[in-house]
Amino acid sequence: MRPGGNGRAVTGPGPRARTRILPVADRGDAVPEEEVVRDHLGRTPPGLPPWLGYDEAGSLLFERITELPAYYLTRVERALLERHSAEVAELLGCGRIVELGSGSAKKTRLLLEGCLRLRPTSYLPIDVDRSMLASSGAALCAELDGLEVTGLWGRYEDGLDWLRAHAGGPLAVVFLGSTFGNAVREERGGLLREIARSLGPGDAFLVSADLDKDRETLEACYNDPPGDAAFAGFRLNYLTRLNDLYGAEFALDDFVPRARYNADTSTVEGRLVARADRAVPVPGLGVTVRVPRGGFLNVGYSVKFDEHGLAREVGAHGFDLQARWLDEDAGYGIFLFRRRGDG
Ligand SMILES: C[S@@+](CC[C@H](N)C(=O)[O-])C[C@H]1O[C@@H](n2cnc3c(N)ncnc32)[C@H](O)[C@@H]1O
Repeated sequence: MRPGGNGRAVTGPGPRARTRILPVADRGDAVPEEEVVRDHLGRTPPGLPPWLGYDEAGSLLFERITELPAYYLTRVERALLERHSAEVAELLGCGRIVELGSGSAKKTRLLLEGCLRLRPTSYLPIDVDRSMLASSGAALCAELDGLEVTGLWGRYEDGLDWLRAHAGGPLAVVFLGSTFGNAVREERGGLLREIARSLGPGDAFLVSADLDKDRETLEACYNDPPGDAAFAGFRLNYLTRLNDLYGAEFALDDFVPRARYNADTSTVEGRLVARADRAVPVPGLGVTVRVPRGGFLNVGYSVKFDEHGLAREVGAHGFDLQARWLDEDAGYGIFLFRRRGDG
């Protein structure tokens, strides 16, 4: 996952390739990865940062999750973009599109198509998973004539730091898949500060958000249906990552993956519930993770928003809500904010 740091660009294959990947890990004042993981493991209950689960295996499992019948988020967002991408592209108002946590970028393609109809466009996806940056960049360049892709391989802060160091006029930052809700409030604040610092007055920030709804729908959405194990595999992959990267010896069978909706915080919590008391050393981080029987490790939050709260939260960081598109049930939205001139 760690891009290395030799600063070498990797160019994609094929005659029509206009895609490159730049490793940007641990730039600027970003907290080092090990420190972030240690901090999450030290919380009560212990947790793990969302990005840790996304290596090649984790990303492929996430793609499978997006195809589960009850996982409505991807389907609803795609339908919204199919209907409104021309208008959204027009409002983005520039030809440099940055995407946070781009993944497969299958839905982003709709938006980029709209942008290319209006102006030459370059796309700068930021993602921790190099394999997804490579495959999505190659697919987009093969499908969209004239698109330039520069994948920024690292965490959001690293990619945004790189962008600030390579100023090139107006930017639009997009954040799809309701991924903004994978961060808790304090972390969202830090991220909004970084985004605001990276945009100039009048630049656009497009973010999608799942809106709060009933427990039954949410728990069906975030748990495996009978006979499938995409969510289970995705959540257990966090332990595999701890074993591989930091020499831990988690036995995957000791934990039961499940999701619970916490109505007090409007958050779906992805959990790994311990079958018995466990104390697992993580030598690479110098810590031991203790989980009592029935206790759990947190491996993913999905915060559910109300649209006014979202507008206030983003607005507090120097943005005005300009437009929004909701699905027919008003259960999911894409929101376009514009950076104010007053900082
Ligand atoms: C929930 S998936 C969404 C993928 C895609 N945007 C979609 O809508 O299907 C989150 C993506 O963000 C990436 N990601 C998560 N946290 C990240 C971080 N802190 N920095 C960079 N990438 C991150 C993951 O690798 C993954 O590709």
